[in-house]
Amino acid sequence: MQLNDTIVVTGGAGFIGSNFVLDWLAGSGGRVVNLDLLTYAGNPANLAALTGDARHVLVRGDICDPELVGSLFREHRPRAIVHFAAESHVDRSIVGPEAFLRTNIHGTFVLLEQAKQYWSDLDEESRRDFRFLHVSTDEVYGTLGPDDPAFSETTPYAPNSPYAASKAASDHLVRAYHHTFGLPVLTTNCSNNYGPYQFPEKLIPLMILNALEGKPLPVYGDGANVRDWLFVKDHCSAIRAVLERGRVGESYNIGGNSERKNLDVVGAICDLVDELRQDAAMGSRRKLITFVKDRPGHDRRYAIDASKVGRELGWNPAENFEDGLRRTVRWYLENMDWVEGVRTGAYLKWMEQNYSERLS
Ligand code: NAD
Ligand code: DAU
Repeated sequence: MQLNDTIVVTGGAGFIGSNFVLDWLAGSGGRVVNLDLLTYAGNPANLAALTGDARHVLVRGDICDPELVGSLFREHRPRAIVHFAAESHVDRSIVGPEAFLRTNIHGTFVLLEQAKQYWSDLDEESRRDFRFLHVSTDEVYGTLGPDDPAFSETTPYAPNSPYAASKAASDHLVRAYHHTFGLPVLTTNCSNNYGPYQFPEKLIPLMILNALEGKPLPVYGDGANVRDWLFVKDHCSAIRAVLERGRVGESYNIGGNSERKNLDVVGAICDLVDELRQDAAMGSRRKLITFVKDRPGHDRRYAIDASKVGRELGWNPAENFEDGLRRTVRWYLENMDWVEGVRTGAYLKWMEQNYSERLS
């Protein structure tokens, strides 16, 4: 059996996955079969620009379903799998970890097992060319002190949240399928993404929308936790570089060289919303900042050493944080129809569950 110029993307209706699919098809990429369960986080509206584009097929389905996954591989004969699908929100993993174990661990196992079977049936040249790219996170490495060196690919795994533990388990399975069966895998471990189409449960879009509407801006703990921010389009270009040129069996750390304290990020968002939606009656939106009960087990600092992907593959982030944040704030302000479309009953229920006690 030979390969087509097709990739299977899982979770391609979510935040990063949809940005990846849009960028892939805007470039010279071949067909995309997009397998997504369309959970609360998956949104076909992210892919509206592809309506009528025969190069994109959206299949609503579960990565935990081996028959579906196997039949998609046999039917479309992809040259690569790019695996984004996951439960991705740390706070939700604290409230309800089971879905994280199911999708992130069992789902990855199902994909690997079906990929192994499909790959085994390929001819020799196709077996050499096939890739399974697993999209993972820097959270598998745990937390850093203020003066610790940034996470490198050899930093020991020490996941602290159920989300991070489930992603760490999936990384280990990916590694094992390469080591034991020879499956040609690649893993990327990326820092915090931001940009268009991010579901507004995550820090940056949540703060943009609350600031716009004059609502409290709930900062966990003392607001001095540090994240290393990467504009989502840069993550997508890094994944393309790893897919095309990465060494099989290797992991690549991806980051934005943009460490920021949460409080500084929220302050910058307030200033941008003040500038772009002037409202004399509102005054400075910084006064909306409200310190609330901390996230249990809250990792203090993440920082990525992305020198390997720079050295080996020539990838570096193109966007700096200040410009990327401005682009992002502008995007949300100009896309309120999209925002209203995702703020459904399920979203409102989560906001109530996670914030009502914190803010009372
Ligand atoms: P997201 O929550 O926005 O999207 C996840 C997508 O997966 C959704 O479209 C959802 O419908 C789909 N999905 C969930 N369960 C599924 C299942 N069982 N079967 C099929 N589809 C399913 O997530 P995101 O922020 O876009 O993250 C994508 C990937 O990147 C995840 O693996 C995440 O761990 C990783 N990652 C995210 C970040 C970040 O900052 N957001 C950083 C590093 C790595
Ligand atoms: O580091 C990569 C990870 O980044 C990804 O693997 C995850 O999928 C992604 O969700 C993200 O995890 P974080 O927990 O870092 O992102 P979040 O946007 O939830 O929170 C960012 C920081 O802001 C974190 O220190 C917690 C804080 N925070 C978050 C929310 C939602 C607040 O202070 N208030 C909030 O309301």
